[in-house]
Amino acid sequence: MRRLYLSSTFLFWLLVTAFWAGSLWAPPPLEAGAVAAEKTYGAADLARHATPANCWMAIRGGVYDFSSYLPEHPSRPDVIEPWCGREATEAYNTKTKGRPHSPYADGLLDKYRIGKFAVDRP
Ligand code: HEM
Repeated sequence: MRRLYLSSTFLFWLLVTAFWAGSLWAPPPLEAGAVAAEKTYGAADLARHATPANCWMAIRGGVYDFSSYLPEHPSRPDVIEPWCGREATEAYNTKTKGRPHSPYADGLLDKYRIGKFAVDRP
């Protein structure tokens, strides 16, 4: 009986020590500024994706692949399709008729972001 008591006490403290030692270990911290780098695209990259089935746009400094979103867009296709392959901030901001998109639409953008737009790149 005493042996059982001693060995289970020993096992208990062994486990407690193991968990404590485990909690001391932490993954090495990320280096300062080590955020996953976003790809950068220029106007020529955009222009290679200028069809409704393969539709990239630059909006507010970001590059987006809207190929899968286009069929879901609420307007007539001919309103949005001409902007494939182009810088479309103004068109997005005004819906080409002076009215901004809703916060809901703004929230959708993130889902399609693939990189940054470099204005000064060909
Ligand atoms: C860049 C070219 C675009 C143009 C010219 C454009 C234009 C329009 C128009 C005319 C409407 C319907 C009428 C109206 O609500 O006033 C509309 C609605 C809408 N569009 Fe766009 N759109 C563009 C891009 C986008 C993108 C990239 C998204 C999201 C990823 C988007 C999301 C929506 C949503 C959610 C609506 C419903 C109304 C709202 O929430 O504002 N649109 N858009």
